[in-house]
This record gives sequence, structure tokens and C-alpha cells, in this order.
Amino acid sequence: MISPFYYKDHTFFILDQRRLPLEETWIGCTCADDVALAIRTLAVRGAPAIGIAAAYGLVLASRKGREHVEHCARTLKEARPTAVNLAWAVGRCLEAVRDAADSDLPDRLLHEASVIWQEETAANESMARLGSSLFAPGRRYSVLTHCNAGSLATGGIGTAVGVIRRLHEEGKLAMVYMDETRPLLQGARITAYELTKAGIPSTLITDSMAGWVMKLGKIDAVIVGADRIARNLDAANKVGSYGLSVLARAHGIPFFIAAPRSTFDPDTPTGEGIPIEERDPLEVRSFQGHVSAPEVPAFNPAFDVVPHRLITAIITEESIICGHESPD
Ligand code: MRU
Repeated sequence: MISPFYYKDHTFFILDQRRLPLEETWIGCTCADDVALAIRTLAVRGAPAIGIAAAYGLVLASRKGREHVEHCARTLKEARPTAVNLAWAVGRCLEAVRDAADSDLPDRLLHEASVIWQEETAANESMARLGSSLFAPGRRYSVLTHCNAGSLATGGIGTAVGVIRRLHEEGKLAMVYMDETRPLLQGARITAYELTKAGIPSTLITDSMAGWVMKLGKIDAVIVGADRIARNLDAANKVGSYGLSVLARAHGIPFFIAAPRSTFDPDTPTGEGIPIEERDPLEVRSFQGHVSAPEVPAFNPAFDVVPHRLITAIITEESIICGHESPD
């Protein structure tokens, strides 16, 4: 299993996911602004991973005192808008040092950041166990996943990919179909990289093939992660997830989300209130950094929202929650 980051000698090292799978390059961050830039530009990405990275960003800020920590907290929180894990982790770190003297900030923040990372790792393991229990033993299932909800998105074994790893270990997995996940190809570049390294049978498809692959009877379940889950259980995830949920319902296939408690946002009543990040249209007009379309206007929402009625179950570290039983 490959980690998206590590901390050593007052430096937070981030594996540059933009260059995967061709290059494994590490970025050494020595200040919170370096971490915020890495989050904003997707060198580190995935909801739990950007929360953990932001916590280490505050560790780097801590030697300059409380005012600087608070300033950097705002910068880190604003680095990306959709995944609530980012604001959650920053808020938790600030709370942990609410009454601390300036001289105690570095130790206390380092402790809190490592506890957040450990908890996310443990949550991945629990989700994997609970998620696998949704699949009866004695047969092998083929599942479809979208984007990357694996080690590189979480710092642990993964949310959706954690469940997939567990299914594989228990002999319940036949095949993982991976959407390539346009425009930035997290499925093709990162999930394919992780599953291949783990020796898990996987097949890459383009996003537009998902419906046909379902129609051919090749998919038993869809399983994805999430970036923010509203109080009514509407769930934001990588753009394309909404379409998959509609397709899954049309084909009578269960649609599962695996997400830790840090992804739940009790302050947002429904999916309509979830801020959706809009990225540079050039990402849509290009492929792997090469312009592939004329200068037409392009729309580039990075996420969409799966309505709770289309979610068969949400797997958390504590329990399995039935999406379509949620009240509006
Ligand atoms: O834009 P990204 O790559 O950060 O989007 C990531 C996703 O949408 C993941 O599916 C989500 O964060 C769940 S990861 C455990």
C-alpha cells in the first residue's frame, strides 16, 4: 500500500499524484502555503487525505505562533470547497490548541494531526469489514468504482477501495471495473495504479461505457467514496457519480457509498447546499495536458450530488446506513 504523504524533520512530503502513474515524485512542504498549494492543484487529493494534509499544514505553521496558525487555517480551509473533511480537520486542530500557549503549539498540533491520520486509517479498516459483510460469501462479485477512493485518497487502505481490497482478501471479488474519470483521470491513473500494485483483478473503462457494461450484466454493485454527505444523506462525490446512481437504479444494481464520519456535514441540510467546485474549463478542453478541443466554452464541475433515494447504503466506520430511508 502506498501512502500519499509522510512527515519528517519539520517537512511534510506529499506524493505528487498529478504525475502518477508515470513518475513517483515527492514534494517537500516546509510551510502551510506549500500544503495549501498542493491541495489546490490536486498534488494531494481525495477527501480524507486533504483533511490530514491540512492538519500537517498547521503543524508547519505552528512555529510562527497562534496568529499565523489561525491565518493559515483560513488559507487551508479555502483550498478546495467541496470535501468537508478539509474544514473538519482544520476545525478539529484549532479546537485542540484552543487554550495552548504558543510554545506548546508545535507538539500539540503534531499530536492532533497524527491522531486524525490514525483515526482515518482505523475508519478505513472498519468500513472494509462492514462493507464486505454486504456481500454474501460463496460467490464472486464484480463491482464498478469511480474516481479514486483508495490509499492515495485517504492515507489508509481506502474507503471504497478498502471494501474492494477486503472483498478480494475474502475471495468474494471477481472483477473491479474502473471508470477512467474524466477530465483528470483519477480512475485511470490512480485507481488502476493502486489496484494493479495490489494484484486485484481490474478492468478500465471510459466513463461513457458504464451504462453498457451494466446492461451486459457485468456489474453486481457500484461502490464509490464521498466528499460531503448532507444531513438528509445526499452525497457529493466526483462528477459522474450522480449518473452512475441513475444507471444503477435503472439496472437494479445496488449503489453503495463508503465514507468515514469526517465526511458527514450535519450543518448542510440537503445536497442542494453542498458547494460544488468548478475547475478550469481547460481541463475539459484537454487530455493529459494536451489541448484536444477548439476554444469552445466548457463547463467543469468537479463533483455532483447523488440524491439519498438512489443510495442503497452508506458504509461508515460505525454502521451501515440506508440511504433511501432518510427523510427529506
Ligand atoms: O477531485 P478529487 O480527486 O479530490 O476527488 C476525489 C473524489 O471524488 C473521491 O471519490 C472522494 O474524495 C472520496 S475519497 C475517499
